[in-house]
Amino acid sequence: MALPYFQINGGTRLRGSVRIGGSKNAALPIMAATLLCEGEVILHDVPRVADVKSLAELLTKLGVNIEWRPDNSVRLVVRDEMNCDAEYDIVRKMRASICVLGPLLAKRQKAKVAMPGGCAIGDRPIDLHIRAMKLLGADVELVSGDIVAKAKKLRGAEMFLGGPYGSSVLGTGNALMAAVLAEGTSVIEMAACEPEVVDLANFLNQCGASISGQGTPRIIIEGVKELKGCEYRIIPDRIEAGTFMIAAAITNGELELENCRLDHLMAFIDRLSAVGVHVERKDKSVTVSSSRRLEPIEVTTQPFPGMPTDLQAQLMTLLCLAEGNSIVTEKIFPDRFLHVAELSRMGARLHKSGPTVIVQGVKRLVGAPVMASDLRASAALVLAGLAARGTTRINRVYHIERGYERIDEKLRGVGAEIERLEDGIE
Ligand code: UD1
Repeated sequence: MALPYFQINGGTRLRGSVRIGGSKNAALPIMAATLLCEGEVILHDVPRVADVKSLAELLTKLGVNIEWRPDNSVRLVVRDEMNCDAEYDIVRKMRASICVLGPLLAKRQKAKVAMPGGCAIGDRPIDLHIRAMKLLGADVELVSGDIVAKAKKLRGAEMFLGGPYGSSVLGTGNALMAAVLAEGTSVIEMAACEPEVVDLANFLNQCGASISGQGTPRIIIEGVKELKGCEYRIIPDRIEAGTFMIAAAITNGELELENCRLDHLMAFIDRLSAVGVHVERKDKSVTVSSSRRLEPIEVTTQPFPGMPTDLQAQLMTLLCLAEGNSIVTEKIFPDRFLHVAELSRMGARLHKSGPTVIVQGVKRLVGAPVMASDLRASAALVLAGLAARGTTRINRVYHIERGYERIDEKLRGVGAEIERLEDGIE
């Protein structure tokens, strides 16, 4: 068995241009939504990352014909609606498989989705997804580890989908996908406002749905009889863009990012500016560079339009090199700090107390062997490796490859010394 790892020689300033790919978190629910459509769906800018491939595998088992084209376009057509079963084997690999629940129930009157298990970033309940299905009139039961939902006909409903940590991105997506074919009007209160939810709603509307209010906490859905297929381009990945912005800043380099939407990253850019990173729009691209001195800041993750939790680990890595103490508070996933122990191995000074980490800035990070643990924590380690003195070896890179397409190749293209190597094990 081959075990891939990244080897990074740090200290090179990154310079050049990078194209940001399509959003993984938008592509996943949009691909799942094709289960609702009668005709052919063609999606452009679908990132070829492991999570998207896992969902494609699941959709194939659910009767969807999927054809990848060389330019990151995908053609999806439902050919068979018999199977309604999302098995544990795939769901355990990727929690986002839960986003087939709404469309299967709405289109096939039945869904059996394995209950997602524990996950590296703490408990991740799905009560809001289930609440939405029940309010729309489904019977939902937990049978031997599977969520089994049934409804002859879904009926429009008013739903409050707020939980202890605010709105739910995929919960809102599931409610939307179930409500589009329900009879009558549905209202989602405390809907997630994330750009990925807006993208899903826009896609559904292009297929013939009638959704308004996406991007606000109140989404209104008028049920329709059927959805057609359509051709649609996925929005750029704001988390990949944010990660490359930090790559530019942490190496004291300058990167031009193409296909980058600043309006999706306002809170993050506000915090970057406070640190001393310059982000400038130039025609169709965005240029990122930084001052030599990095200022310490306070930052708290929040639902959109606040600072995204998916960039917390990467921003913390930059703050490790600021001149003073920063305070990072995680309000979405309070246990999402797996990167803290690994960054400490590279010389970072981090003090965790509950959902807050005090980051004591140091002059430099030093290369070390470290372990990737979850998707965004692993990206943080790549960034630390780029800035560190010496060599960093990052094991278990499959975590990074779940959500970043060819990150090693893209970084090499702008001057990073990063290689993807493999250890052979008998
Ligand atoms: C999505 C993103 C993930 C991101 C997260 C928050 C995808 C594929 N994943 O995950 O990258 O980090 O949004 O922006 O889009 N919660 C409940 N009950 C539920 C569902 C969620 O209490 O039924 C809680 C969660 O534990 C968490 C908060 O709500 O504290 C937000 O989670 P949620 O928005 O649902 O995350 P995902 O949609 O799974």
